[in-house]
Amino acid sequence: MTGLFTPYTLKDVTLRNRIIVAPMCQYQAQDGLPNDWHTVHYSALARGGSALVVVEATAVSPEGRITPACLGLWNDEQAAAFAPVVEGIRKAGAVPGIQLAHAGRKASANVPWEGDDHIPAQNPKSWQPIAPSPIAFGGDLNRTPEEMTLDDITRVKADFVKAAERARDAGFQWLMLHFAHGYLAQSFFSAHSNQRTDQYGGSADNRARFLIETLQAVKAVWPENLPLSIRFGVIEFDGRDEETFQDSLSLLKKLRTSGLDFLDVSIGFSTPEAKIPWGPAFMGPWARRTAEETGLPVSTSWYISEGRQADALIRTGGLDMVSLGRPLLANPHWPFEAAKAVHKTDPAFVLPSPYGWWLSRYK
Ligand code: FNR
Repeated sequence: MTGLFTPYTLKDVTLRNRIIVAPMCQYQAQDGLPNDWHTVHYSALARGGSALVVVEATAVSPEGRITPACLGLWNDEQAAAFAPVVEGIRKAGAVPGIQLAHAGRKASANVPWEGDDHIPAQNPKSWQPIAPSPIAFGGDLNRTPEEMTLDDITRVKADFVKAAERARDAGFQWLMLHFAHGYLAQSFFSAHSNQRTDQYGGSADNRARFLIETLQAVKAVWPENLPLSIRFGVIEFDGRDEETFQDSLSLLKKLRTSGLDFLDVSIGFSTPEAKIPWGPAFMGPWARRTAEETGLPVSTSWYISEGRQADALIRTGGLDMVSLGRPLLANPHWPFEAAKAVHKTDPAFVLPSPYGWWLSRYK
């Protein structure tokens, strides 16, 4: 029976088990450039035994960064600087993936440990965020974005395409478009943030248009033999979940026929008023329903922290992969602990031989 340590093949990519390193911003870049921090961090996660390492939200344009310290792929210098990151992941036997993102109205913020709020507009480090409609997110992210023109929409789609080409040429083998968490794409889909009256706003079909067109445009340049995935928030926990979920399913079915290969099921984060029922693996049932209704292979994250729980989500919970964030920050070798917990034969060899050989020998 398929479990956490059963390999998974999608297109020409085979993952050694079902553990994804969820994309996690490091806020350690300057001018969008990866550096030693990123190489060491991502190599260590790959050596820890996870199968797919998804590099953090990487901006397709300077204004698409969440903070001034976010990674970018809008120029060739950045693309070249990703080479050691890709190599470090690959050499450790994991598959290198990357998440391409545009932060929309949540852009131009301070890094979390310096406030997590919008940088004041008068500060020269700030920039003008853009979004489908001039509606601020609220809370600490209260700067009003500029409404995107049709030309802006065309340009941002082209930015996604150019970044995808650079990711492809840099050797990434799994692409994830960030369509979740209240950033630009999710904010087109959500009525909380999109009140446009043109073809990109109003009905659910219109609010889906930016996401579908972006995926289709990226699909045209992303290799047919490599997985094209998204992370998308299927619900908001805003009291209208069933209605939003049905709209999400209809979007996802269209994305699937447009060439979407894999989905990470997440939360919309389009309103600070959301009442999110945090708890162990609480997105699991939503991910399962999404997989059943759309036929897409899925992963999800959020509070999956125990090996046996992760294994059960694969065996009987309807998930194809699990995506872990904080547990892997706490311990990049979490897959070894999980392998012990599910009584995998030779659990130490989830890790590379320079670690695994010793751990299997001295118990
Ligand atoms: C995140 N998260 C996140 N999500 C995403 O889609 N792109 C990103 O770049 C980031 N950045 C990020 C940074 C840090 C430090 C954390 C902790 C989280 C969300 C992350 O991928 C994951 O979904 C959550 O952390 C929930 O999973 P865990 O941590 O409960 O396993």
